[in-house]
Order: sequence, then structure tokens, then C-alpha cells
Amino acid sequence: MAQKNLILLGPPGAGKGTQAKVLSEKLGLPHVSTGDMLREAVREGTELGLKAKAVMDAGQLVSDELLTGIVKERLSKKDCAGGFILDGYPRNLSQAAILDEILKSLGKEAARAVELEVPDEAIVTRLSQRRSCPKCGAVYNLATNPPAKEGLCDKCGTALVQRDDDKESVIRQRLLVYHEKTAPLSDHFRKQGRLLAVDGSKKPEAVLADLMKAVG
Ligand code: AP5
Repeated sequence: MAQKNLILLGPPGAGKGTQAKVLSEKLGLPHVSTGDMLREAVREGTELGLKAKAVMDAGQLVSDELLTGIVKERLSKKDCAGGFILDGYPRNLSQAAILDEILKSLGKEAARAVELEVPDEAIVTRLSQRRSCPKCGAVYNLATNPPAKEGLCDKCGTALVQRDDDKESVIRQRLLVYHEKTAPLSDHFRKQGRLLAVDGSKKPEAVLADLMKAVG
């Protein structure tokens, strides 16, 4: 059976995590988020976490070297045999080349990219209103998808938190980094005939339907 090796591209706050969680259930593929892996490393105080924290809080990219090992290890796990949904990786052209090498070395097919397109101003609004559950990872939005009980996760009752990098000044810095380093990936994948684009500014259910049409 063909592998479904997918990359979700798009600016910070485009809805990559939100959509990847649902797609993962619908397609039966693991959701591999480098942002989540790094935040877990920060919470656990590992060497990787200690190196990554200040970089993440400043809205900059963690070095390629720190990411390569964890991505290769994760993609080599059994649950990625039929495919995966990569969220947050690759983040620049050199990571795209590294990913191609990793997949080749693991005997896997090259991945296809799906881009969620959302304008910058919608991003700032979305991210300032995001809250997430530090225990189960559920993501909410105070404006469009609030929890039933203020400040508490619907799924596990844990107190919701705001990510350290969701302050307006850091969001704007992340957008700058995105346009400079990550946005060129769209052209890169388009030229290789490996890019699909979906309008990420619609309601989440409509975005999901378009994604399923694109990759299902
Ligand atoms: P990472 O965690 O990857 O962050 P990001 O790419 O900036 O993306 P976000 O998680 O902020 O947004 P999202 O697109 O998942 O949106 P979400 O679904 O939550 O990376 C964080 C940091 O880690 C980086 O800055 C970097 O330092 C480091 N890092 C990670 N990977 C790296 C790599 N490969 N190389 C180097 N460094 C790396 O949605 C956002 C909000 O909008 C939520 O509130 C949600 O409810 C709401 N929402 C979602 N969809 C919709 C919709 N359709 N309409 C309205 N609201 C919506």
C-alpha cells in the first residue's frame, strides 16, 4: 500500500495542530509535531529542552542540528510505516533537504506538502486568543472555540495555559521568521509538484473538508 507521508505547511496559527489532530484520527496516521516535541522537552528539562527554550520564547527557529535526530527517530517508529502527518517540520530549505535524506535512508517515499493559507492579521488575532491544555494538548480559542468551563480543559479538567510565545510581540517575530525562512518552502514544493494549497481562513470544519478532499 502507498505511504501517506504528509507535511502540513503554513504560518504560525494557521491551524496546523488543530487540523493535524483530526486528520490523524480520520486517516489513522500519527501526528508528528516538532513544536510539541520541543515543548515536552522544555517541560521535562532535558538537554534539548534547555537548549531550545530561550530560542522558542524569542520566536526564533531552533537549530537544524537539534531537530534532525528527534525527527529521524520519530519517523523510524513502527506507527509511521503507513505514513505520518508532519506539523512544524521542515521549517526552512535545509530542513526540507534533510527530511528528503531521512526518508530515503529509512526507505520511505518522499512526502507531499499541504499548505494552509491564512493572512497575517488573522494570525495575530487567533494566536492571542489561543489557550491550550498542558496535560492532554487540547487547543482552544477564547473567541471561536472556548472551553465549556472558563479556564478549564473540556477533556481532562486541567487549567488551561497561554503559550509563552503567544505574546503579540513574539507572534509578530514568529511571522517575520516564517516569511523569511519557511514561506520559500511553498515554491520549493510547488516546483517539485509536491504542493497542495487549502484556504485556512475558513471555519475549522470547512478547512478539514478541503484537506480531506486534497489528501484523502
Ligand atoms: P510550533 O509549535 O510548530 O508553532 P507554529 O508553527 O508557530 O504553529 P502554532 O502551533 O503556533 O500554530 P498552528 O498552526 O498549529 O495553529 P493551531 O492549530 O494551534 O513551533 C513553536 C516553536 O518551536 C517555533 O517558533 C520554533 O522556535 C520551534 N520549532 C518548532 N519546529 C521547529 C523546526 N522544525 N525547526 C526549528 N524550530 C522549530 O491554531 C491556532 C489558534 O487558532 C487556536 O486557538 C485554534 O483554536 C484557532 N484556530 C485553528 N483553526 C482555526 C480556524 N479555521 N478558524 C479560526 N480559528 C482557528
